[in-house]
Amino acid sequence: MRTFVIFTRGPSGPFSVDDLPDAGRMDLICRCLSSALFLSYKMRDDVEVYVVLNGPPRPPVTIRFTSNSGFYPDEKSIANFINEILSLEIINTWTEYKGAFVSRKSFQEVLNSLGGEQYILSEKGDDISKIEVGERPIFILGDNRGVPPNEEKFALRSARKISLGKESYLSSSCISILNWICDKR
Ligand SMILES: C[S@@+](CC[C@H](N)C(=O)[O-])C[C@H]1O[C@@H](n2cnc3c(N)ncnc32)[C@H](O)[C@@H]1O
Repeated sequence: MRTFVIFTRGPSGPFSVDDLPDAGRMDLICRCLSSALFLSYKMRDDVEVYVVLNGPPRPPVTIRFTSNSGFYPDEKSIANFINEILSLEIINTWTEYKGAFVSRKSFQEVLNSLGGEQYILSEKGDDISKIEVGERPIFILGDNRGVPPNEEKFALRSARKISLGKESYLSSSCISILNWICDKR
């Protein structure tokens, strides 16, 4: 299993799918989900993605996606699916909806519950090519503004900071690179 955790300032309630960049950069999140979960003709069955939404109206909300979650790889289809989930009554424990799961868990609660081999992605981390990534890695990434310092500090209590290079890549590009690295093992 491979896990991606994405910290985002995206909305914790329904948003307009007609202007995803203006909806707390939900375009970025939709692309991350597409990169994480889709191969060319099928979905990956060994990947899960936690999207932690920290924007208004009532953060945090975390959605866990797997290959059983019902959507197509295009941004609008994914955005519509997220909107359906955000229209539910969201409580502290996980509720299933069409193969995805939603709760009011925070970023820190998600990291604590996952444990395991955690890596936080940052341009300033250790070079990933010098690291032996294990069988069940948990990769933590930020949105366009990155992971806030206090949350990064929390993650670093158990995570190692790793880098894909000095260039700052799109979060979705980072996920594609990480999937490629793990696929090659
Ligand atoms: C588009 S970047 C934004 C980075 C943002 N400027 C910052 O200060 O964190 C979004 C996320 O992609 C990841 N990322 C981007 N480039 C990376 C790189 N070269 N190595 C590792 N992670 C990277 C980081 O997790 C970052 O939070």
